[in-house]
Amino acid sequence: MTAQLIDGKAFAARVRGQVAEHVARLKQDHGIVPGLAVVLVGEDPASQVYVRSKGKQTVEVGMTSFEHKLDASVSEEELIAVIDQLNADPAVHGILVQLPLPKHLNEDLVIGRIDPAKDVDGFHISNVGLLGTGQKSMVPCTPLGCLMMLRDHFGSLSGCEAVVIGRSNIVGKPMAQLLLGDSCTVTIAHSRTRDLPEVVRRADIVVAAVGRPEMVPGDWIKPGAVVIDVGINRIAAPEKGAGKMKLVGDVDFSSCAEVAGAITPVPGGVGPMTIACLLANTLTATCRAND
Ligand code: GUN
Repeated sequence: MTAQLIDGKAFAARVRGQVAEHVARLKQDHGIVPGLAVVLVGEDPASQVYVRSKGKQTVEVGMTSFEHKLDASVSEEELIAVIDQLNADPAVHGILVQLPLPKHLNEDLVIGRIDPAKDVDGFHISNVGLLGTGQKSMVPCTPLGCLMMLRDHFGSLSGCEAVVIGRSNIVGKPMAQLLLGDSCTVTIAHSRTRDLPEVVRRADIVVAAVGRPEMVPGDWIKPGAVVIDVGINRIAAPEKGAGKMKLVGDVDFSSCAEVAGAITPVPGGVGPMTIACLLANTLTATCRAND
């Protein structure tokens, strides 16, 4: 391996440390305790793991964690009533509705009900529009974490060729907006992109966010490029024993690490940064609410 390893776990610990210091000062000087409410609908095991981890880390940085677990059969009206109650609660500064929601619930409608000032996911259409026009907004956590690691690595991103693979509303599109905001030349590639390997080979920065295990091989990567792997895929790992699973990203780590200048691992790369940025966004929302 020749690439430098970008340690998201250590970076996230530093971010959480800074958030915790700021929270302690808010509490001491102003008597304000930031509060983050997480709403989980149904029993999706992966979502339950995320929500537990969010709750634990929220408390660790000194914030108050509110958890609302609703039955998978909850009606849209009942869910909206919970959101209205959280919007009106002055102890709640950030609200996150864990996605995906069960099929009978309209995600756009539910997210659209969250007070944009408390939308720590940055998914509300007002925040999407503010980000797209370069105004102060809440920024989606995963792309924000990627941007922080890239800025840390490069200093300035100005003039870099960036290729984002994946066009989701949660990662691909906001990632592209953030890179554009830092004066990169940005391409969003996706499943219909013609000659994807050639497009990726142009990039100084590759952000892979497609949800397809080990899809990007090393020979797509320009020597020295920085590779940010957003994918978290569980695949069979027969080498570990029958029925065993392992986590892999959207890039083929071993071949990409031979060519890249720097790369994030999976696990331990982007993943830990997402929750750290959620806590940072909750702190930002608290400060803005008390400006
Ligand atoms: N599900 C997967 N990632 C996310 C995220 O960043 N926010 C929310 N609300 N749900 C998710």
